[in-house]
Amino acid sequence: MPDTDNESDAARLGGRVYLQEVAMRDGLQAEAAFVPTDAKVAFIDRLSRTGLAKIEATSFTSPKAIPMLADADEVMRRIERVPGVDYAVLVANVRGVERALASPPDEFNLVLSCSETHNLTNLRMTRAQSVAQLLAVMRVADGARVPVNVSLSCTFGCPMEGDVPEDVVLDYAARFIDAGAHGISLCDTTGMAFPAQVTALCLQYRARFPHARLTLHGHNTRGIGLANVMAALAAGVDRFDASLGGLGGCPYAPGATGNVCTEDLAHLLALQGYATGVDLDRLLACARALRELVGHEVPGQVAKAGRRLDLHPVPDWFDEVRTRALKREVDAAGASR
Ligand code: COA
Ligand code: ZN
Repeated sequence: MPDTDNESDAARLGGRVYLQEVAMRDGLQAEAAFVPTDAKVAFIDRLSRTGLAKIEATSFTSPKAIPMLADADEVMRRIERVPGVDYAVLVANVRGVERALASPPDEFNLVLSCSETHNLTNLRMTRAQSVAQLLAVMRVADGARVPVNVSLSCTFGCPMEGDVPEDVVLDYAARFIDAGAHGISLCDTTGMAFPAQVTALCLQYRARFPHARLTLHGHNTRGIGLANVMAALAAGVDRFDASLGGLGGCPYAPGATGNVCTEDLAHLLALQGYATGVDLDRLLACARALRELVGHEVPGQVAKAGRRLDLHPVPDWFDEVRTRALKREVDAAGASR
């Protein structure tokens, strides 16, 4: 049973939590071997039947920068759009949004880093240049009536600059919300966030922007990913990016590793009494198939250990041990009489 604190969180949120899958973008962009387009399309179609609220399917960035996702146009043209699932794509410039409009997504995810150094390494632009580029992207998206979410990278710290001031993060959020973005993702790009910091920043965001969606995009680089989600839930956050198998990592951030793992998070949220709409069995089946898709082991834990109450058979020597133990108990009782 959920304990009282978590029940009250669930009640405040209406118990609904939106899980947004990013393995096909954040995960695959960091892979060494190209995953064939057919396999990507089939995998996204399978993920579409797990009850996830949103799937970030690919990114329309420069194929030189992110060669793993060079087939974005074909992927978006070929995937099946399952009703109830939002299909998002990441873009960093006007060229990307114009390419993406050939098979319009349900949402554009724009990206800007709150750290100048990380923005220059990731996007080869200063933050000011990125803001100008993204505002131009938003005008094109608005003309096509596709909603925009802005992912702010390094909001809880930059691996090259250190701490990023909260005001810097909130001021960038304000810039884009004022320009019409329907939501902001606070991204812990390299797993530097810790729960008290997450609570503080999310509470400030919610107080300042009560009507704009807020997503926490976490990485589990230092094993704090799920703890950060719990902290965000306590601050009223109900949308989380996560990556199947815990796949992922920004190729332009030193030491970056996988995202918070979707199936581990879905498992935890179910235990805590939240409704995610996710069919955990189907999601776990996808997670177990992921190894084949990428050709290596992935960090996710529940796919390996099983759900909390997936019981294991007792060993074949169990009966013998039990009989002996019971006999000792009877003998001891006899001796003490
Ligand atoms: N789609 C396809 N090609 C693109 C493109 C896009 N959206 N944007 C740029 N390009 C191409 C250009 O045509 C050019 O090609 P060329 O060398 O054959 O002429 C090349 O990429 C470089 O373009 P330029 O405008 O000079 O960009 P840049 O080198 O300054 O790079 C970005 C800027 C944003 C395009 C690039 O850094 C990028 O796509 N980064 C992606 C980062 C990312 O996704 N990180 C992980 C997610 S957080
Ligand atoms: Zn990420």
